[in-house]
Amino acid sequence: MQQKSPLKILVIHGPNLNMLGTREPELYGKTTLDEINKNLETVGEAKGLSVETFQSNHEGDIVDKIQQAIGTYSGLIINPAAFTHTSIAIRDALLLLDIPIIEVHISNIEKRESFRRTSMIADICTQRLSGFGVKGYTMALEAMAKMISQ
Ligand code: DQA
Repeated sequence: MQQKSPLKILVIHGPNLNMLGTREPELYGKTTLDEINKNLETVGEAKGLSVETFQSNHEGDIVDKIQQAIGTYSGLIINPAAFTHTSIAIRDALLLLDIPIIEVHISNIEKRESFRRTSMIADICTQRLSGFGVKGYTMALEAMAKMISQ
């Protein structure tokens, strides 16, 4: 019997999320990005999903990565960080994809400064998880697994 290859999920982290662990821990917690990514890979594996993670501080690199996702991944989880509030380029790139997209924020962006209430991508994403701390990533992956289960 031929083994089915696992469905691939891409997780994109935006600017400054590489500093998790030490960056404003009262808001974002003490878990590092590396720990978040390893946990996602483990949870994904248990669900038969192959999780790839990517972080960049550069808008264009994130746009490139989203473009490369066309036809390769079955789902995208994205925390565009500060680019959430500003980036039409990331929004336009996401519009190229025909897969479920979950927007994740560690903090609750509705309960912070008013400029964080604007998301350039909320209306084109499948769903948003905001304010669950770093657990929001695992919750997003679990929701994604249910959405794309074959
Ligand atoms: C964030 C919220 C953004 O407003 C902020 O710029 C970030 C992180 C979050 O995960 O809570 O960098 O996306």
